[in-house]
Amino acid sequence: MGALVGGCAARCSEMSLLALGLMSGTSCDGVSAALVRFNGHTFRLIAECTRPYPAALARRLRQAAALPAAEVSMLNMLLGAHFADAAARLLRSAKVPAARLAVIGSHGHTLYHGPQDPRPSTLQIGEPAVIAERLGVPVVADFRPRDVAAGGEGAPLVPAFDEAFFGGGPVRALLNLGGIANVTVVGRGLDTVAFDTGPGNCLLDLVAQRLSRGRQRYDDQGHLAARGRVDHRAVERLWRHPYFRRPPPKSTGREMFNETWLAKLFGRQLTEAPYDVLATLSTFTAFSIVQSLRRFVRARLREVIVSGGGVHNRTLMGHLIRDFTPVPVRSCAQYGLPPQAKEPAAFAYLALRHVRGQANHLPRTTGARTPRLLGSLTPA
Ligand SMILES: Nc1ncnc2c1ncn2[C@@H]1O[C@H](COP(=O)(O)OP(=O)(O)O)[C@@H](O)[C@H]1O
Ligand SMILES: [Mg+2]
Repeated sequence: MGALVGGCAARCSEMSLLALGLMSGTSCDGVSAALVRFNGHTFRLIAECTRPYPAALARRLRQAAALPAAEVSMLNMLLGAHFADAAARLLRSAKVPAARLAVIGSHGHTLYHGPQDPRPSTLQIGEPAVIAERLGVPVVADFRPRDVAAGGEGAPLVPAFDEAFFGGGPVRALLNLGGIANVTVVGRGLDTVAFDTGPGNCLLDLVAQRLSRGRQRYDDQGHLAARGRVDHRAVERLWRHPYFRRPPPKSTGREMFNETWLAKLFGRQLTEAPYDVLATLSTFTAFSIVQSLRRFVRARLREVIVSGGGVHNRTLMGHLIRDFTPVPVRSCAQYGLPPQAKEPAAFAYLALRHVRGQANHLPRTTGARTPRLLGSLTPA
């Protein structure tokens, strides 16, 4: 074990450690929290929850990149309070006092991610000082910037968790269906490969919100998409986006896959045939995932383990099951992790590695020059 950082030695000296992770993804649905006990090469999820954002806050977050600095500054503190609240509630429901936590790992909410810009940058908000102040626990946050500063994409970061806990077995793809979809391929003797495949739920959410005039935040279980007809020519047009040809390491976000792109590709169809657009996007999302894996990963998969809120979209899952046949596709719930608990559990682990002074990313999957200790520590 490496050096202990930031006065956490006492908290981290036990064999088995409790950590809490917080994740707010591109979907802007809420903050997902997971309380996890780590013990050597195993972990056990103790409790998890997703605290939805009030509609007005979700809307603000979606527009956040265009907000003036004063609003961003306020949002940073407000989100920090929201995260602290989610953590406190989770601890209360699990009857675990905050003092028993070694650390909290908070990914934050991404306002902008531009690792390929002429001056690469990435920005996550959700003030860790507010979390530390409220819970009295050290908080590790701001994981991405150090990876970007070291020449990397800053994402995806969950692969370090995937490799640690799923890497010793057969070749498996761990697919996360958040707003953006990302995949990690791990297996005994295999060099881990990971990258964002492209859109996950973000485009589906956009169309479902338009279609329901804001009454639905997402296409519940994929029922709306199931009513539409797939436009296969549109699937081909979507697949022509240069991002899909770029080899890993690569990461993306709503900067690339957003309403402007949809409007360009679907034009009037977006308002005249929204069910068909949803059906087409659901088919395309599965297609882009399966084809990206074929394009960039040589190893033969034995299993696909899916996490993220997209697991609840039956239409999308149906496409994935069909397109991956004969490789079985399973929810990570079968491995004791509810779909939206995996990413926060991963950030609990990355924070734990930080306070132990251990590198907490896989440079070969982010493109960083060499291993680094990602994140900034706010003491208890
Ligand atoms: N019942 C459901 N039916 C269909 N999709 C769902 C359902 N529940 C959640 N989702 C999808 O999951 C998304 C949230 O997943 P999440 O893993 O939190 O993504 P992110 O990390 O981008 O926030 C929602 O925006 C929605 O698209
Ligand atoms: Mg989410």
